[in-house]
Amino acid sequence: MSVWIDIGALEDVPLRGARMIKTPMGCVAVFRTSENEVFALDNACPHKAGPLAEGIVHGKSVTCPLHNWVISLETGEAQGADEGRVATYQARVENERILLDRAFLRARVAA
Ligand code: FES
Repeated sequence: MSVWIDIGALEDVPLRGARMIKTPMGCVAVFRTSENEVFALDNACPHKAGPLAEGIVHGKSVTCPLHNWVISLETGEAQGADEGRVATYQARVENERILLDRAFLRARVAA
């Protein structure tokens, strides 16, 4: 069973944007789509660790600000001809609050 932890308000993350959110387990990049879905990923692009939270969100993807790789927010995988993957964490919105699966903690501790 998932245990969800509150990591902040939905309004703290701009629409079609992202924000680094500090959690008790470290920082995570939280992205918000035009549909108000949220996705939590590690911030480092699988190419050369570009800051994904500073990229452009479009659909359910983000374009890295450094060399324009397109990363799926759902799977963390690079799209198209590029290969690589960034860690993703289960996130959801409830009552305008962003919740992160506590498994994030285990993933971080194991990393
Ligand atoms: S570091 Fe992200 S595309 Fe190069």
